[in-house]
Amino acid sequence: MLLFASRHSGSDIELQGIILFLSSVIGSCSGSSIGVCYGRNADDLPTPDKVVELVKLQNIKYVRIYDSNIQVLKAFANTGIELMIGIPNSDLLPFAQFQSNADTWLKNNILPYYPATKITYITVGAEVTEAPSNISALVVPAMWNVFTALKKAGLKKKIKISTTNSLGILSCSYPPSAGAFNSSHAYFLKPLLEFLAKSRSPFMVNTYPYYAYRDSPTNVSLDYALFESSSEVIDQSTGLLYTNMFDSQVDAIYFALMALNFSTIEVMVTETGWPSKGSAEEVDATPDNAHTYNTNLIRHVINDTGTPARPGNELDVYIFSLFNENRKPGLESERNWGIFDPDQTSIYNLDFNGRAPVDVTTETNATNSNGTWWCIASSEASETDLQNSLDWVCGSGNVDCSAVQPSQPCFEPDSLISHASYAFNTYYQQNGATDIACGFGGSGVKTDTDPS
Ligand SMILES: *[C@@H]1O[C@H](CO)[C@@H](O)[C@H](O)[C@H]1NC(C)=O
Ligand SMILES: *[C@@H]1O[C@H](CO)[C@@H](O)[C@H](O)[C@H]1NC(C)=O
Ligand SMILES: *[C@@H]1O[C@H](CO)[C@@H](O)[C@H](O)[C@H]1NC(C)=O
Ligand SMILES: *[C@@H]1O[C@H](CO)[C@@H](O)[C@H](O)[C@H]1NC(C)=O
Ligand SMILES: *[C@@H]1O[C@H](CO)[C@@H](O)[C@H](O)[C@H]1NC(C)=O
Ligand SMILES: *[C@@H]1O[C@H](CO)[C@@H](O)[C@H](O)[C@H]1NC(C)=O
Ligand SMILES: *[C@@H]1O[C@H](CO)[C@@H](O)[C@H](O)[C@H]1NC(C)=O
Repeated sequence: MLLFASRHSGSDIELQGIILFLSSVIGSCSGSSIGVCYGRNADDLPTPDKVVELVKLQNIKYVRIYDSNIQVLKAFANTGIELMIGIPNSDLLPFAQFQSNADTWLKNNILPYYPATKITYITVGAEVTEAPSNISALVVPAMWNVFTALKKAGLKKKIKISTTNSLGILSCSYPPSAGAFNSSHAYFLKPLLEFLAKSRSPFMVNTYPYYAYRDSPTNVSLDYALFESSSEVIDQSTGLLYTNMFDSQVDAIYFALMALNFSTIEVMVTETGWPSKGSAEEVDATPDNAHTYNTNLIRHVINDTGTPARPGNELDVYIFSLFNENRKPGLESERNWGIFDPDQTSIYNLDFNGRAPVDVTTETNATNSNGTWWCIASSEASETDLQNSLDWVCGSGNVDCSAVQPSQPCFEPDSLISHASYAFNTYYQQNGATDIACGFGGSGVKTDTDPS
C-alpha cells in the first residue's frame, strides 16, 4: 500500500562559517548540495539573463531545467553554475528510436554551449510512470542512445544520465524499511537500475512531504512534515528513528533499491518543496510553512546529516521551485511552489547557505528601544557574494548608488563592505524595511545601531 501519496502532476556561528568556507574550497566533488528547479511554465517570467542574475544573487550553485532551451543554456555560460538539463517526455520516442537523433541533438543543441555552460546531468523523461500514455518502455533505450552519443563526444564521465521518478513508483513507502517498487513497473525498472548501477548514476526521485501531510493529516503531523517535530517515529523492523517525513521518504527508496540488490545506487532528490498558497482546503500552503520547510530542508541537507538509513551520506537536493508557474493546471497550490514571483519579488526569504534564523517572525518581534533598524553587509559574507549583491542592488534593485562613487559623499571608507552596507540599507529602507528586504542571499544583516 502506498501510504503517503506522491506528487502526481507534475551556538557557533563562526565555526559554521568556517565549515561552509571549507566546503566551498573543497568544491563540488564532496558534500551535499542544494539546487533549485527553474520551471518556465509561466507568463511574464524574467529573461534567462535576469534569472541568472537572480540565481547568482541567491548564491545558488545548482539549477535544474526541464528541457535544453538554447537561451537558457547561453545565459548560464561562464557562471560556474551546474546545470541539470532534461529531455521532455514528448521527445522520448525519437531519442529511443534512432541513435542518430541523440547524436544530432548533442551536436546541435548541447556541444555548442558546452563546457562554457556547465552541464552535469541529463534527465531522460520525467515521472514517466505517472504519464497518461505508457511511455516508460522508451526511457532506457533513449538513455542508452544519449549515453552512446556522450561517449562518442568523450563526455560520458562528465555528464551523468538518469531519469526523474515520482514517489508513486513505490508500492509501499511506510515504514521506510518496507519500501518496495511497484512490481507493475518491473519491465522499466530492471533495465533502468542496471543502467544506473553500470554508469554510476543516481536514482532520481521527487519527494513531497507536503502531499503526504495534505492527503493524510491524521497520520502525518504538520511538524513532522516541516522538520519541526520534537518526537520521533520508530521503524520497528530496523529500530531507526525518524524525525521528519523527508528522511522517511528518501529511505523508503534506499530500502526499495536494497530489496532489488541495487544498494550501490545513490538517491538524488530532484524536486521537493512546499507551496506558499493553495485552494480553500489547503490551509497549510502558506508562505510561513514554505519558508520553514525549505529553510529546515537546506540546513538538514548541507550539514551532511544524511538519513537514518544512510547517516552522513551526501544527498543532493533540488528545491521546487524558483518561480510560481501560473500556467500549471490543477489545484491552486500547483501554481504556487515558487520562492519568487515572476516579477522577481521574493514570496519569502530563503537563505540558500542555511545561515538565516528559521523563525523570522520571532526576529521581527524583537524591536529595539525606538524601533529603528538598519541593514548592513555581513562581515561573514564572501567578497564575491557581496559584489554580486551590490551589483544587483545598484542595477535591478533600483538603488541610486552614485553616493558611493569616487569623490562622492559616501565613497569613504573605500571598501566593498561599506559600499555594500550603504546600498543594502538604502534598498532595505526603500522596500518597507522588512526582513525579506535585508536578505541578499545571506549577505545582509539587520542591526539596531546606526552604521553611519
Ligand atoms: C507498458 O509497456 C510495457 C512494454 O511495452 C508493457 O510490458 C507494460 O505491461 C505496459 N504497461 C501498461 C500499464 O500498459
Ligand atoms: C502499481 O502500479 C499499477 C499500474 O500503474 C497500479 O494500477 C497499482 O495500483 C499500483 N499498485 C500500488 C500498490 O500502488
Ligand atoms: C492512517 O494509517 C492507517 C494505518 O496505517 C491506515 O489504515 C489509514 O488509512 C491511514 N489514514 C489515512 C487518511 O491515510
Ligand atoms: C539479492 O541477493 C541475495 C543474495 O545474493 C539473493 O538471495 C536474492 O535473491 C537477491 N534478490 C534479488 C531481488 O535479486
Ligand atoms: C548538524 O550536524 C551536527 C553534528 O552532526 C548536529 O549536532 C546538528 O544538530 C545538525 N544540524 C541540523 C540542523 O541538522
Ligand atoms: C510579538 O509581538 C506581538 C504583537 O505585537 C506580541 O503580542 C507578542 O507578545 C510579541 N512577542 C514577544 C516575544 O515579544
Ligand atoms: C533612534 O532613532 C534615531 C533615528 O530615528 C537614531 O539616530 C538613534 O540612534 C536611535 N536610537 C537607538 C538607541 O537606536
